[in-house]
Amino acid sequence: MGLNILGMGSYVPEQKLTNNDFTKFVETSDEWIRTRTGIVERRMAGWEPTWYMGKQASLKAVEAAGIDVGDIGLVISTTVTPDFLTPSMASIIQYEIGAENAAAFDLNAACSGYVYALDTARRFLETDSSLKYVLVVANEALSRFIDFKDRTTCILFGDGAAAAVVERSDKLFSSHLGSDGSGARSLFARNLDIAQEIAVESDFDSGFPEKPMHQLYQDGKAVYKFAVNALPTAFERAAEKVGITKDDVDFFIPHQANVRIIETAAKKLGVSMDKFIVTLDHYGNTSSVSIPLALCEAIEKGTVKRGMKLGLIGFGAGLTYGGIVMEY
Ligand code: UT7
Repeated sequence: MGLNILGMGSYVPEQKLTNNDFTKFVETSDEWIRTRTGIVERRMAGWEPTWYMGKQASLKAVEAAGIDVGDIGLVISTTVTPDFLTPSMASIIQYEIGAENAAAFDLNAACSGYVYALDTARRFLETDSSLKYVLVVANEALSRFIDFKDRTTCILFGDGAAAAVVERSDKLFSSHLGSDGSGARSLFARNLDIAQEIAVESDFDSGFPEKPMHQLYQDGKAVYKFAVNALPTAFERAAEKVGITKDDVDFFIPHQANVRIIETAAKKLGVSMDKFIVTLDHYGNTSSVSIPLALCEAIEKGTVKRGMKLGLIGFGAGLTYGGIVMEY
């Protein structure tokens, strides 16, 4: 059983931070950021809560799907940057959009979150025949978890939201999800209430750290090494289950972290970069939002059309990874 994406919507905050803006508070340059990451600018949420961005994207997705919001039976929200530990962003969005017949929960698989959530939605639809539509919404405000004095991380991330209304279908669908928890220490962030200032790597192992905490810690090189293998593996494992190859795929939508990671993954897969959707130049790394945001933009531009085969491939903190092969 596959999934049909009935409609998608996205939302990004107005405020932009360009590479040059960062030169005012850290030792960096537009040239370094462009050549090392491919990022040019990103959006910053400011006052807007994570759930608020998720709500805006969800309303657009529901409108694009042309459904009655009361027919949504489940809202899955993906986020690593919720406004609260509880309630879930999904519960707030469920109420805010008027999806009164929906169950709701958040899913945290970091930047692989949307791949995990689409696969989860499909499994719910397969096992519960009373379920008609699932809303899968990604919403992230990374800017609230970043230390803007740390040039190695602050230049990478951006905020936004993207959502899809999905239903069951007999279209092609396959997935492979994975995790390598040995890399947990390579990328982590604590809750804002605990986190205050700069921390060191060893803070990971302390429930009650003596030092003030860093908001987001990343060993960029370790994550990079993981990513360039995880992306091709995620695709290949999902594809082999349904007997398709990279040549059958019209477009790959990878997690948007660093264009060099995407180029290396493309090379490893033996696929031209023309087949990779890249939006990180204008949004940066928006964690679980990055894949649906890129897909939504490609659909709106007419690049991705009905009937095309897509490879959605992600990686992130955990370290998690996941791939979906599906027909749009
Ligand atoms: O969704 C989450 C997944 N996260 C990722 O995918 C991140 C994966 N990692 C990366 O994308 C890259 O490792 C980074 C973009 C984070 C870093 O790129 P890099 O090519 O691995 O650079 P590096 O860490 O080796 O740093 C090279 C130099 C260092 O200076 P020295 O030691 O050679 O003097 C850094 O201090 O660049 C310096 N540097 C900077 N310079 C200017 C680091 N950040 C900056 C900066 N501006 N913003």
